[in-house]
Amino acid sequence: MASAIGGKLVLVTGASSGIGRATAELFAERGARLILLARNTELLEEVAAGIRERGAKAAAFSVDLSQAQDVEAVAERIRREQGIPDIVVNNAGAGRWLPLVRTSLEEGRAMIELPYLAAFYVTRVFLPEMLQRGSGQIGPYPDDQHEKDRLRDLTRIVHRLAERLRLHRGKTRP
Ligand SMILES: NC(=O)c1ccc[n+]([C@@H]2O[C@H](COP(=O)([O-])OP(=O)(O)OC[C@H]3O[C@@H](n4cnc5c(N)ncnc54)[C@H](OP(=O)(O)O)[C@@H]3O)[C@@H](O)[C@H]2O)c1
Repeated sequence: MASAIGGKLVLVTGASSGIGRATAELFAERGARLILLARNTELLEEVAAGIRERGAKAAAFSVDLSQAQDVEAVAERIRREQGIPDIVVNNAGAGRWLPLVRTSLEEGRAMIELPYLAAFYVTRVFLPEMLQRGSGQIGPYPDDQHEKDRLRDLTRIVHRLAERLRLHRGKTRP
């Protein structure tokens, strides 16, 4: 079965760690070209280098996704250097998911605001060109003639992510 992801330009937010990193690596394994966004340049470069070592393409862009102007500036660079993404995975999120009583107001606010604002800003900067082009996907929702193919790919991705997280938690939590 040919992958519907091969050759696609895939932008993943929050790609410096956790689910975003694993998602980017899995898309790369399926032949996608990756655009990686997060703030931590060093971690992002490490993820990009790992992907390139395995023969896929990846470019890292450090940006604070809570700042609309910064998102617009990085989108301009991405347009120029990489093109308009085919798939945007809005994954970036904040917070440590501590018990409520140990969560500060500041952290709680960021946990609520960041994922929504980041998804809004990132989607907003690329959506007009995707609409104009007549193709593109925001989030992991198949929506074209390759629907079944993509659904199978994405289902496998979710299962593998769940397995990786389970293994990771087993290693890091007593
Ligand atoms: N893991 C879970 O069990 C779980 C449960 C419920 C929901 N979620 C949600 O799933 C998403 C990913 O979770 P995760 O466990 O993979 O979290 P994670 O390891 O903490 O990853 C969060 C990612 O978001 C990036 N990020 C945070 N603030 C940012 C900002 N202002 N600008 C740009 N990037 C930013 C981080 O990179 P930098 O720090 O380098 O910027 C990092 O790459 C989050 O939205 C999380 O809330 C996860």
